[in-house]
Amino acid sequence: MVPVILVIEDKKSMAEMLAETLRAEGFEAVTAPSGEDGVKAALGGGVDLVLTDLKLPGMNGLEVLRTLKAKRPLLPVIMMTAFGTIDTAVEAVKAGAFDFLTKPFDISHMLVLVKRAVEAGQMEAENILLREEFAEVLGFPKIIGRSRPLLDVVEMVRKAAPTKATILLTGESGTGKELFARAIHHLSPRARGPFVAINCAAIPKDLMESEFFGHEKGAFTGAEARRLGKFELADKGTVFLDEVGEMELNLQAKLLRVLQGESIERVGGSDPITVDVRVVAASNRDLEKAVAGGGFREDLFYRLNVFPVRIPPLRDRAEDVPRLARHFAAMYCTEIKKPPLAISDASLDVLSGLPWKGNVRELKNCMERAVILADGEIRPEHLGVCPPPAAPDESGGFEGPLHAVAERASRTAETKAIRAALSACGGNKTKAAEILEVSYKTLLTKVKDYDIV
Ligand SMILES: Nc1ncnc2c1ncn2[C@@H]1O[C@H](COP(=O)(O)OP(=O)(O)OP(=O)(O)O)[C@@H](O)[C@H]1O
Ligand SMILES: [Mg+2]
Repeated sequence: MVPVILVIEDKKSMAEMLAETLRAEGFEAVTAPSGEDGVKAALGGGVDLVLTDLKLPGMNGLEVLRTLKAKRPLLPVIMMTAFGTIDTAVEAVKAGAFDFLTKPFDISHMLVLVKRAVEAGQMEAENILLREEFAEVLGFPKIIGRSRPLLDVVEMVRKAAPTKATILLTGESGTGKELFARAIHHLSPRARGPFVAINCAAIPKDLMESEFFGHEKGAFTGAEARRLGKFELADKGTVFLDEVGEMELNLQAKLLRVLQGESIERVGGSDPITVDVRVVAASNRDLEKAVAGGGFREDLFYRLNVFPVRIPPLRDRAEDVPRLARHFAAMYCTEIKKPPLAISDASLDVLSGLPWKGNVRELKNCMERAVILADGEIRPEHLGVCPPPAAPDESGGFEGPLHAVAERASRTAETKAIRAALSACGGNKTKAAEILEVSYKTLLTKVKDYDIV
């Protein structure tokens, strides 16, 4: 995609000269004669960089900058100032301008700055998917992971997000399809519009059409009032069609028409309604197979598959596991107001080696459980993911990393000691804790963790 640069400049000849120079360098350039017009154009979407004059009639460059930074913090802005207004230029940079140019400026210097700003803007959009501070500012969950397969997905999403192209997210259950769908919405010019999710697998088939497109009063038994459909509610925003493979064939035909830009009709209605929605669809079923089997329209498949993004299963990016595990552990500790927990190396080894059929969701649930059970440190026995490995004894159990052998040995020894103490005092845990010189709480935790009955 060719980067689009918006030049906000009230002097027509200057604006045209800048636009021509930028075009000659392979950029697309548009101009706006006032701050108000410029802000409107920039917020309308499709602009990658703003070059604004400081002195403008009405809204000045600094106000343009502040308005844009509040609404589209990622859009780079370069300020053009007249000689002698260096203080304002500094103020502009403090307010978030990428840089400033003092008039009269050298054209080649301007081009260098523009190129740098465009690149920085693109990188920023990519980083935002991965960086917490921005994720919080923009209100979407952080995407964790640095493995190559995940970064490839991030890169694709970054490129496709600002367009109106339909995106089809595929991947096993729990890989993060909904998370990416939200990220796409947030990185698009529609970010301030609604994000409406429809789970096609959760809606009874006979209600699906009304759910999508709404109905008029009396359209069918039980339709007591007019109801707006999800597509209407998502106007100027994004519709996320989850489990799109579950749609019925007749509704598939209607969806196809929406995707082709045709208007929609409420059930029982006759007035066509035009909506402006971007569709992001997801499926964990193989849609190509569904097409071959006749359960999914081929034309709809191609229409949805304009920009396919496959999210790899967690087992194919095991290097992301420790990072995800730490993130979820910290998240649940905060949630249940528990002091931060370390994760033992043995636990990380166990976690990294699991097949994770339920992908990130399964890991997330596993960490939630571990956070509840653990004190101080998350150890393998808190994970509850697989039967604990055999304890070392004469018959074996000494294989594997040393720390894992030690963990198992200490677990066996402690289990034996606790059993002995409990039986010595007839199962009275208070007394057993005294004998073992641990707190009652520690004893209870261990009894539970080690499954001592
Ligand atoms: N890379 C990631 N970083 C942080 N959290 C993640 C990541 N991937 C997934 N998650 C979290 O894992 C959970 C499952 O993700 P999500 O619901 O997006 O999966 P899905 O692919 O839509 O699954 P399903 O097909 O079952 O609907 C969510 O809580 C999500 O926030
Ligand atoms: Mg989902």
